[in-house]
Amino acid sequence: MSSTQAEAAARESARRGPVGIGIIGTGMISNAYLDNLTRFPDVRVVALGDLNEALAAEKAGAYGVPFSGSPASVLANDEVEIVINLTIPVAHVPVALDAIAAGKHVWIEKPIGINREEAQALLAAADAAGLRVGVAPDTVLNPGIQTALRHLAAGVVGTPITARTMMRYSGPDLFHPNPAFLFARGGGPLLDMGPYYVTTLVSAFGPVSKVYATGSTAKPNRTVKLGPNAGQAFPVDVLTHVDALVTFESGANAQVTFSNDSPLAEMGTVEIIGADGMLLTPDPNHADGATRVARHPQEYSEKLEPNWEDYPEEGTVTGRGYGALDMARGIREGLPHVATGELALHVLDIMLAIEESAAAGEVVAIQSTVDPVPLVDHKRDPFAATLGA
Ligand SMILES: NC(=O)c1ccc[n+]([C@@H]2O[C@H](COP(=O)([O-])OP(=O)(O)OC[C@H]3O[C@@H](n4cnc5c(N)ncnc54)[C@H](O)[C@@H]3O)[C@@H](O)[C@H]2O)c1
Repeated sequence: MSSTQAEAAARESARRGPVGIGIIGTGMISNAYLDNLTRFPDVRVVALGDLNEALAAEKAGAYGVPFSGSPASVLANDEVEIVINLTIPVAHVPVALDAIAAGKHVWIEKPIGINREEAQALLAAADAAGLRVGVAPDTVLNPGIQTALRHLAAGVVGTPITARTMMRYSGPDLFHPNPAFLFARGGGPLLDMGPYYVTTLVSAFGPVSKVYATGSTAKPNRTVKLGPNAGQAFPVDVLTHVDALVTFESGANAQVTFSNDSPLAEMGTVEIIGADGMLLTPDPNHADGATRVARHPQEYSEKLEPNWEDYPEEGTVTGRGYGALDMARGIREGLPHVATGELALHVLDIMLAIEESAAAGEVVAIQSTVDPVPLVDHKRDPFAATLGA
């Protein structure tokens, strides 16, 4: 720990009570955050900001947040200790850098940024200032995936050897009124949905060493389907179908598919095979769901049906905002948080390498690595007040 970080940690642990939160970016996903953050006693949402100040004011009214205004006004608010950055991917790092410059910790929606250099610069700036960066997805910290990871670590299927993930459907233009950013740099099925699946795989298998991928784009343009901009065409700047083979430092392998070109929907599939069976996690984009384990049939039958065992989720299901709560508690207690900027940078590095491999037709080595991802303490109640008054 550097002296700046030690001073910052000492300053933080001297503070008590709920941690002040300011949200920048009050679009579609902000409701899911506000639903939870306004109910966790260990945080207090004190300010909302957006380029669209009227939208921020509307959300502040709906959720009883005392202040709303411009992004700069959130950064100038002394009560804000963590900025939750729910802007679009191209703005993630610029807004986060502004937050760090204003002396705030920052939690960012996924992906951390749109290229490695800007994400590395952000982590360096935060480190120098003794401030924290936490990054979504935090659905992976919720009881669904955490229960799966706990059983995996306990050896329920033996050492994990290989995995398959599948995320394919028609695309987020089915439900998002402003979908253009989801098909621009920083979006696409890989960078938009990949963080849920790749973060789960890295949590289960450890860091990735190399990837080999293919990819394609079925349509050069798409059309807004709902909301005030319905009918407007927008360009598709990303791969909309990706298949990749991922090799972990451990020597294990995974096969992953991300597609917005499939009318057939298959979402949330994460299958992990060890010598003693296959573990199926619940959907990593959701907070809940049971873990299923399939064991080899003992004898031949027509259907080749495995023997199933179900493991119910353990812990309190919340949803988005749980990772920011984990970081807020960590700040007060001087303990690390789980969804770190370093983990998000490694996940971004893997996803960009998949894009690069698909373009070059070659294996791409991953330059970054990450420490083993700790499990979340599932006995800790998110709805308990644990930080004093
Ligand atoms: N919509 C979802 O279902 C969903 C789910 C999970 C994660 N996410 C992630 O959440 C983030 C936001 O997605 P969304 O769907 O809420 O998008 P959105 O377009 O509905 O909202 C984004 C908001 O950010 C504001 N904004 C953009 N640039 C800004 C800037 N520089 N400063 C301040 N405000 C700025 C916009 O005015 C807008 O109100 C994205 O990273 C997305 O990947 C979205």
